[in-house]
Amino acid sequence: MKIEKLARKNILKIVSYVPGKSIEEVQKEYGAKRWIKLASNENVLGPSPKAIEAVRKELSKVHLYPEGPCSILRQAIGQKFSLPEKRVVISNGADNLILMIACAFVNEGDEVIMADPTFSVYTNVTQIMGGKPIKVRLKDYTHDLDGILKRVSRKTKLIFVCNPNNPTGTTVSKESFDTFLSRLPERVIVILDEAYGEFVEDPCNPDGLDYVGKKQVILLRTFSKVYGLAGLRIGYALGREDLIDCLYQVREPFPVHRLAQAAAVAALNDEKHAVRSVQMVCEGRRYLYKELSRIGLSYVPSQANFIFIDFHKDSEEVFRALLKEGIIIRPGKAWGYPTFGRVTIGRRAENRRFIRALEEVLHKGTLKSLLRQSS
Ligand SMILES: Cc1ncc(COP(=O)(O)O)c(C=O)c1O
Repeated sequence: MKIEKLARKNILKIVSYVPGKSIEEVQKEYGAKRWIKLASNENVLGPSPKAIEAVRKELSKVHLYPEGPCSILRQAIGQKFSLPEKRVVISNGADNLILMIACAFVNEGDEVIMADPTFSVYTNVTQIMGGKPIKVRLKDYTHDLDGILKRVSRKTKLIFVCNPNNPTGTTVSKESFDTFLSRLPERVIVILDEAYGEFVEDPCNPDGLDYVGKKQVILLRTFSKVYGLAGLRIGYALGREDLIDCLYQVREPFPVHRLAQAAAVAALNDEKHAVRSVQMVCEGRRYLYKELSRIGLSYVPSQANFIFIDFHKDSEEVFRALLKEGIIIRPGKAWGYPTFGRVTIGRRAENRRFIRALEEVLHKGTLKSLLRQSS
């Protein structure tokens, strides 16, 4: 029998998520180099040493199921943010929470509004559930909240607001977000994705915690970025109890393994490591802005641990040339910006190496095109 007859029709249309290239993947093609990965917005400082130690201690217990509801971590998150535990749900990455949100709230035919471009998983989960993604083009690289309001209909179930937005790194202001929320019908749930929230410096940014429990907002956060635990897959959602209860209805019994739970508790308690990570990103942002301006490239000012850069030429070419130099970035074609690339902010030496390689690559390109013109 044809697979089209077996599979649910919704899943056949889905364009799978394409992650940034891993070091293992590029090594196969380009060989062993001193690789730096600036493609997936991970914490280039790595995890907290306390998290590593916690994982070591937990290793001998992996024959036992983990604690299903992640009570210790839930308690720690509740205490950190002065929230009752009932408003916290933890799962294996914000990715999985996004899927759980769709499973819990999106019926066949429901509309889900999101920016274009933004984190593509929002589209995938909507389609899995048979919902209809409604995309609203960014305005000046930023969420167009008025444009989103105009697209709200009787069928609207969810709105994703990625703040800072991936891939542009832009944020909405608290004032515009408050106005936006006040104009929305109460039946529409807003998912405020703050995967990069800890890196924001702009004082006008809304703090998602202010909305937890008060509005129809589900706040998403992750241990993958500032806490450096992307490989362990753990994230959390905060919100009104009735909304969070719905997520428990669709949650697997043991979605977060022992090592991830132990590491996350330790990471949460190592505030120093998180602060150092944020400082490194803020310094790196300023350095890269200065250097990109010197080279004559434009970029979107970012509140996240990455920068969306306009290379003023096909970014696939820049991407491939940088791979030869041992540097992995993310080209922008998939987001509809073929001359842009998204580059994670690295350590000081990595940022310097990236800028040196980029100058080399762009300069070579200029020479080649001059040679082409003269021949
Ligand atoms: C905006 C955004 N939300 C969610 C995620 C998923 O995070 P996690 O690693 O916790 O699944 C990412 C990952 O890159 C992201 O960029």
